[in-house]
Amino acid sequence: MAPDEPYYRDDLALVHHLGFGFHADMCAPGILRLLEPVLERNGLVLELGCGSGLLTRYLVEAGHRVIATDASPAMLELASRTAPGAEEIRVLVMPDDPMPACDAVVSIGHPVSYLDSEAAVLRALTNAADALNPGGVYAIDIEDFAYADAVAGTPPSGRVGDDWAIILKRERPAPNKFVRDMTTFLRNDDGTWRRDDERHENTLIDTSKIPALLADHGVDVECRTAFGDETFPPGLVALVGHKRT
Ligand SMILES: C[S@@+](CC[C@H](N)C(=O)[O-])C[C@H]1O[C@@H](n2cnc3c(N)ncnc32)[C@H](O)[C@@H]1O
Repeated sequence: MAPDEPYYRDDLALVHHLGFGFHADMCAPGILRLLEPVLERNGLVLELGCGSGLLTRYLVEAGHRVIATDASPAMLELASRTAPGAEEIRVLVMPDDPMPACDAVVSIGHPVSYLDSEAAVLRALTNAADALNPGGVYAIDIEDFAYADAVAGTPPSGRVGDDWAIILKRERPAPNKFVRDMTTFLRNDDGTWRRDDERHENTLIDTSKIPALLADHGVDVECRTAFGDETFPPGLVALVGHKRT
């Protein structure tokens, strides 16, 4: 079932920003290499599910023109401070919000996996393919079934920063669903702590069917284990390719 409000309210958005930048740091070199031809022609990069702008910042600093988008207003507020040089930072809710024509579409941290059905995930992927101009670069990461295989049954975990903490429980309530129950704690200005809870449901799919689907939309992609030389968690798949010219 779809949540009645976007994932990542204020507190979890801030905890993500402060404590979960490692994926963007890891992906940035590979993504920037894939985007070199786009930079050369001063093309436009559309980022889907940009979150707090942790990758956007790398793109902008490298000289890219970026439209950074997300469903969460709290994330976008952080992104506008993290990557103020982006051409535009705005709400775009996948799968059906219109996507602007672009020369690259990038998405990391599996935003498409947040959609509530396989049909919605595939629609987001084909809409992104349709937004690409000829020769455009496609670089999106997504959860395969194997992603949950690796973590199902692992004990709850926690992380702590100076003014924040998070407890994370993972479960697999159905073969194609992966759920994270997250409790965040943030320190208030008066030194007290506040708590918030979010339950995130991801849809897992067999990613091997995606190349044939996108080929029908003029985009040739491979399912790779990473964008570049980085190491992804098992089952996180990088869809990398181009729109035919
Ligand atoms: C794990 S976070 C990754 C954020 C960022 N890309 C990063 O790597 O730091 C997933 C992001 O997907 C966004 N998201 C979830 N559902 C979405 C949807 N239907 N449309 C657009 N963004 C969505 C969330 O708001 C969140 O910012």
